[in-house]
Parts: sequence; C-alpha cells; structure tokens
Amino acid sequence: MEKRSVLVTGASSGIGKECALLLASLGFQVFAGVRRVQDAEALTSAGHALLLPVMIDVTVHASIQSALQSVRAALSADASFALVNNAGITVAGPLEVLPIDSLRQQFEVNVIGQIAVTQAFLPLLRARKGRIVIMGSVLGRISPPLVAPYAAAKFALEALTDSLSQELRKWGIRVVLLEPGNIATPIWEKSKDRVLEILDALDPGRRELYSESRADIERLARAFTRWGIASARVAKTVAKALTVRNPRTRYRVGLDSKFLSTFSPLVPDRLRYWLTRRVLSLK
Ligand SMILES: NC(=O)c1ccc[n+]([C@@H]2O[C@H](COP(=O)([O-])OP(=O)(O)OC[C@H]3O[C@@H](n4cnc5c(N)ncnc54)[C@H](OP(=O)(O)O)[C@@H]3O)[C@@H](O)[C@H]2O)c1
Repeated sequence: MEKRSVLVTGASSGIGKECALLLASLGFQVFAGVRRVQDAEALTSAGHALLLPVMIDVTVHASIQSALQSVRAALSADASFALVNNAGITVAGPLEVLPIDSLRQQFEVNVIGQIAVTQAFLPLLRARKGRIVIMGSVLGRISPPLVAPYAAAKFALEALTDSLSQELRKWGIRVVLLEPGNIATPIWEKSKDRVLEILDALDPGRRELYSESRADIERLARAFTRWGIASARVAKTVAKALTVRNPRTRYRVGLDSKFLSTFSPLVPDRLRYWLTRRVLSLK
C-alpha cells in the first residue's frame, strides 16, 4: 500500500484535531502541529501509533524551521508528503475601533503564517509530489459586518490559492482550497472575548457609538456556534482532497457555504447587505 504522510497545522482543537485523528485512522503518518505540551500529550493519549505531535507556531520562523527538521527526521523514506494549512484565529469587531495590531495579527496567523509554512515545506512537497490543502472559508467570498478582519484574511487566501496553484502546477503539486461554512468549533467563542475586551476599553464617546455592537457580537458568536455543523465533515473533505486522484481546486463544505457562494454574487449589493442584517439579526 502507498505510504502517505501529512503535516496538519493547528491540530490542538476543532477542525485540525479532527483532521489529524481521521487521517491517522486512514493510515497516514500524521504530524500534528500544536503549540503547547499539554495539547501534544492530549493527542498522543488518543493512542494512534501514526500520530506524532510537532510543535509549530506558524508566526515564528524558528518554530517553522524546527518543525521542518522534526518532520524530515521522522518521515518514512518512501512516503508521499502533504501539508494541511489549517491554523487560524478569528479577529472580529467594528473596523473603526479595531486596534490596528489586531488586524496585523489576523493576517500574520491566517495569511502570512500559511504562506511561511508553505514556503518552508515546499522543497519536501516537491520531492514527494505532495499536495497542499489551504483552509479557507465561505467568508472568503462574503463579508458580513463585524468580521471584516477574518473575512479579509480568507479573501486573501482565495487569491493566494489561485496564484500558488498555477505556479506549482509544473511540478505536479496540487493546491486545494476548502471553503467550509459554519463549523461548530471553539473559534468564535475565543474571538468573542477578545472583541468584547476591545469594546469595553473604548473611551465613553466611542463606546456609546458602538453600544449595539456588543450585543451583536454576542449574538453572532452564539449563532455561529449553534448553527455549525460537525468538524468531521471538513476532515472528511480534507481526506478526500488528499486521496482522490484528481482533486478539485476548491471544495465547499456545508449547505450554507454552497448556497451563499452560489447565490450571493447574483444578489445586488444593497439587497445582500439588508438580507445579511436580517438573517443575522444585526442592529
Ligand atoms: N469554525 C468555523 O466555522 C470555520 C469555518 C471555515 C474555516 N475555518 C477555519 O478552520 C481553521 C481551524 O479553525 P477551527 O474552527 O477548528 O478553530 P480552533 O478550534 O480555534 O482551531 C484553531 C487552531 O489553530 C491554532 N493556532 C492559532 N494560532 C496559531 C499559530 N500562531 N500557530 C499555530 N497554530 C495556531 C490553534 O492552536 P492553539 O490551541 O495553540 O491556539 C488551534 O489548534 C481556521 O483556519 C479557521 O479559519 C473555521
């Protein structure tokens, strides 16, 4: 049987963890990227002999290089190698009052980090005729209010994937972008606390201007978490993208992603804005 290996970044929770566990159960040698020892231990305790936690912070050059060395050292000699660029955070909040460093951090993790890891691992991917999966989002196609930093980063991944896909074609390296809709993971709850802190720290005048945003953010985080489908759905699609002979360039995961990507471009902007506010019950 063909030997396969894969690095999944951001495997401590949510979609990345689900991907790491599923791929290991399918016979992949999985390098599961984490940032904390306790997350590494939690993955090891899952008991998959094929699952090896690797420390990697996608925003730190030295960490990426050290992960590359660990992967090179442990990689089976004749295994193919793939990369799942999954690590990500959500930065949310009204653009007017968003600390500019938060916007930088959003791009640092979700965009620059993904490309930095891809650059570092490309020689290995080229040598092993590998595949790259990039974790985009339906929010790379539509951008509702209050989630602009996250959506802008996902829009950027759409562009980067298109170029990268064409640039790597001559070496047979396939690049696949996943566009999941709403998935039930801790990601929105994590960002909610951050944005509430930002709103609470505003001077009284601006706090008054954005007084309704607080409730909107809480409602959005609740709704996104409640409506989300299981991260196993995304993991299955990642497995498909890594194993089918001829993967598509993009996979939409979830009915919301399919529906919104198909119909949003057909709706005039102002009608789309109105519908978005109605559906998300925003003030
Ligand atoms: N949930 C959704 O609705 C949804 C929809 C579409 C796309 N996505 C995308 O799916 C990916 C995974 O998100 P998730 O929903 O599964 O959220 P999650 O459970 O919060 O997982 C995010 C992962 O990224 C890791 N991470 C964050 N910053 C990192 C850094 N600097 N270096 C390395 N790893 C880092 C986290 O590690 P720590 O535990 O160490 O922080 C965690 O393992 C993200 O790219 C997200 O944008 C999510």
